[in-house]
Amino acid sequence: MTLAAVRSSVVLNPQLEISGGRQLSGELTVSGAKNSALVLMATCLLSRDTVRLRNVPPLTDITGMGEMLSSLGAQVVRKGDVLELTGDRISNAAAPYELVNSLRASFFCIGPLLARMGMARVPLPGGCQIGTRPVVEHVKGLKAMGAQVTIEHGVVNAVVPGRGHRLKGGRIHLDCPSVGATETLMMAAVLADGETVIDNAAQEPEVVDLAALLIAMGARVRGAGTPTITIVGVERLHGADYAVIPDRIEAGTLLLAAAITRSTLRITPVIPEHLGAVITKLEEAGCVIKHDGIGVTINARQINAVDLRTQPFPGFPTDLQAPFMSLLATARGTSVITENIFENRLQHVAELQRMGAAIRMQGNTAFVEGVSRLSGAPVQGTDLRAAAAMVLAGLAADGITTVRGIEYLDRGYAFLEEKLNAVGAQIRRVDAT
Ligand code: UD1
Repeated sequence: MTLAAVRSSVVLNPQLEISGGRQLSGELTVSGAKNSALVLMATCLLSRDTVRLRNVPPLTDITGMGEMLSSLGAQVVRKGDVLELTGDRISNAAAPYELVNSLRASFFCIGPLLARMGMARVPLPGGCQIGTRPVVEHVKGLKAMGAQVTIEHGVVNAVVPGRGHRLKGGRIHLDCPSVGATETLMMAAVLADGETVIDNAAQEPEVVDLAALLIAMGARVRGAGTPTITIVGVERLHGADYAVIPDRIEAGTLLLAAAITRSTLRITPVIPEHLGAVITKLEEAGCVIKHDGIGVTINARQINAVDLRTQPFPGFPTDLQAPFMSLLATARGTSVITENIFENRLQHVAELQRMGAAIRMQGNTAFVEGVSRLSGAPVQGTDLRAAAAMVLAGLAADGITTVRGIEYLDRGYAFLEEKLNAVGAQIRRVDAT
């Protein structure tokens, strides 16, 4: 049973009650990366052997992905932070609507399913709280590899025609460097006939992590982490034993917890190159950050306003825009934050305003005038990272902040309140009913 499952069996309608204004001190451990683990799990569809993943975080999204893979015939065994996935009995190429609808990352099963089975039926994932989130680039790339794709009644039907039903290598130029499309097409290409080149590929660390696992499984992948990825298809892939990278978004959130409470924390493990843009902005804001080979120590006193624009990696990550806004709501001066990736990812502004933040909106830009104190209030986390932003704001605010939308938090942060409480925060999970 995952931590989140244990919690939800105890508290039916959870919310977090945060008693703010405390300084934090000590050391925090970052869990494995959710977004890496989700895509690495899907590689079990590519091999008959077992893929053993270590450092898998206990999150409801991971459970959801496990259910999706089981529904396709994979065996999924969880032992602590180790996940063993075996795809020797993949029998079903049709993903259930309920599972894709509740976890949009499960859409990228379409790539490995097509590569392995020559067919896939996967419902369109639809939009979510942060935007419409199309899958046009995924579909375009699969077509370039020879798949015939139709979309009917909200379901993507893909089939590889011809003898052997094997995809063919192709040249694909992505119109935008979509992380999900890049990952989908990499998993499709590793078993295709010939060479595939993905231009304008996403360069996120999770893409590099996927390439590393695929290579460990016997795939031929070059260039992951650059805008051009080249893959030469092989006949078959074998199993592998692989550790997921640390979660850079969780690490960034914990750095922000130190910054917003003007505290000193050591955070491990951190791969600083994964957080380059975030560390630069924190330093620009006045934090002192030291790397020690395994992790980083952040020391925060006064925070000054900084401007930031979200961009694909190595730019500033959209997933840390809301948490960073909480910090800047308490900074000296006015910051300008522009969200360039998702069209509806500023819903936390209204919630921060309820806590006394002085923020003015203009299109996809927020002008954040720092205030000397936020004040605790009941607030709603409107998506995963917005919920994290509310927790951060609650840590700094006067009095009690209650945060609803905790089901989002449990999708992406393992043990967040336990971790923060261990370094001096006061957060309780209570029933909102
Ligand atoms: C992944 C991450 C998510 C992160 C996002 C951007 C996972 C499970 N999720 O989501 O946490 O916020 O990257 O870093 O890894 N786009 C198109 N057409 C397409 C596909 C995408 O226009 O066919 C656009 C999207 O609308 C968005 C941008 O590209 O504006 C980035 O989306 P994408 O990189 O695909 O995000 P995800 O892979 O869904």
